[in-house]
Amino acid sequence: MFRMPRCPRLLLLFLILTCGALYYFTLKDDNLRYQGTSNSHQHRVPPPNVGGNSEEASPARQRPTSLATFQQRKKRLEAACTERRNEAANNNNSKLPAFPYHTMWTGSLAFCPLPKTGTTTWKRILYYMDQGLKGRLLDTAYGDIHTKTMYMQNKRIRVYSDFKQNHEKYEIGALIRYTFEHEKDANPSHTHSLLLADCLRRSCVFLLSRYTPGKKYKSIVFVREPYARLFAAYVDKLFTPRRSNWRKYGTPVVSFTRTVAPGNAPNSLCAHDVTFQEFVRYFIAVETGVADYQRDEHFVPLSHQCGFCHETYDLIGRQESFADDTLGMLAVLNAQGLLHYSDFEQNYEKYEMDALIRYTFEHELDSVHHCMSKEQALRHLWKALQIRGTIAAEEFFPLSTADCEQVDADSFLQIAENSYNKSIANPSRHFNRLESMHEGFSTVHAEDRLRLRKIFEDDFKFFDYDPNNPYVFPKDDEFKLAYYRYFDVYDTFLFQSGVPN
Ligand SMILES: *[C@@H]1O[C@H](CO)[C@@H](O)[C@H](O)[C@H]1NC(C)=O
Ligand SMILES: *[C@@H]1O[C@H](CO)[C@@H](O)[C@H](O)[C@H]1NC(C)=O
Repeated sequence: MFRMPRCPRLLLLFLILTCGALYYFTLKDDNLRYQGTSNSHQHRVPPPNVGGNSEEASPARQRPTSLATFQQRKKRLEAACTERRNEAANNNNSKLPAFPYHTMWTGSLAFCPLPKTGTTTWKRILYYMDQGLKGRLLDTAYGDIHTKTMYMQNKRIRVYSDFKQNHEKYEIGALIRYTFEHEKDANPSHTHSLLLADCLRRSCVFLLSRYTPGKKYKSIVFVREPYARLFAAYVDKLFTPRRSNWRKYGTPVVSFTRTVAPGNAPNSLCAHDVTFQEFVRYFIAVETGVADYQRDEHFVPLSHQCGFCHETYDLIGRQESFADDTLGMLAVLNAQGLLHYSDFEQNYEKYEMDALIRYTFEHELDSVHHCMSKEQALRHLWKALQIRGTIAAEEFFPLSTADCEQVDADSFLQIAENSYNKSIANPSRHFNRLESMHEGFSTVHAEDRLRLRKIFEDDFKFFDYDPNNPYVFPKDDEFKLAYYRYFDVYDTFLFQSGVPN
């Protein structure tokens, strides 16, 4: 008897993979992407299973996430937090302290932005709501939405001395303590005057926020599969050519993982070539307290941020079902109609691609030049767009070395748009993220992958993700890689392997 799979995501993935597999099998260059084995029809695509395990059954392809599902997620988190507290009471394993976080407030909405989970879109939604904008959400020019929405965040940190002298001048909705050590005191149920008095009495770092005590807020947060999130953060912060990111995120990795020749202080290095393997080693050392470097919100596990076991989150969204969850949340918030499924299909990726290319040309190519050639930088950019799945892997880097020296932003945009147009109909691009992630993790030693699994333990428990994600822990620890390598910037592997004609 045919049984409907319990999980719609699995069904969806199954459909995608089936279509994808059919697509591959009908390709003339059958072995282009996957190394041929004697039995070339087995397991072309690494086994599916990224994402959740126990969502409600629903055969619908696209359906806004129901309130019942949100309630189920909330319950799961609460149960996991209870378990966590009991465990913590019984063992003395010291964990790193929780990480500071900030919340954004508008109307009766509270949002905790976790980097790399789709927060840009949600910041646009919040801004649109807060400003009472009219017209289509997507037609609005948002510019740098992260800066633009800072006024909604608890970012305006003031120190006590300044506040003590000037507190009458501030229009204060409430005071929310910033640092986690004080978080227990900064309970939203504390009245404004209590917090105020408290802050006047003793030194505290606090924030001016838009939070109104006593008001009922619906709180929202988005989470993401932890391995995929870490990988995405690596690609954005270290692989994509951006000098300021290399300096900020790459330099500590280099100084931790490499023996630097005397006179070559890490600060003078470009840190443009940090590998995923190195990054993971560094991350593990920082998150286990072995190396004393500043932790960063882009990498710090989800469960250490947003005060999950202290705050109540009504609506927990997942990056993997972003459209369904976002539309489901908007329905719960009585804001249906703000976005539609069609808005998620192509608009964002095209928008993001254009922005990334323009930014790279305008701000980066000159400054990365003494670290890598313009060609190398453009190749990195191209690969980054492929890893995101915006451009299909079959769309090889289109420029010669000489072309690279000549090309300007407008022509490169045209070329990328042309490849993008061709990629839209290519279902293989939807595998790119997983394929590249599989490739990335294939370089990480098994012991380090186990350490990662341990670090993300709470993330898995809180948000129902699979600790043994098969893209990270494949069967028999056997990584099946494609001919196309996302981190082989000059595609030497591809061409040396002899692509079938
Ligand atoms: C935790 O540490 C305390 C104080 O050092 C000690 O009394 C207690 O037995 C320890 N508990 C466990 C489970 O090791
Ligand atoms: C890509 O497709 C869009 C929409 O069909 C079209 O307007 C645009 O000119 C195309 N761009 C290129 C470079 O082919």
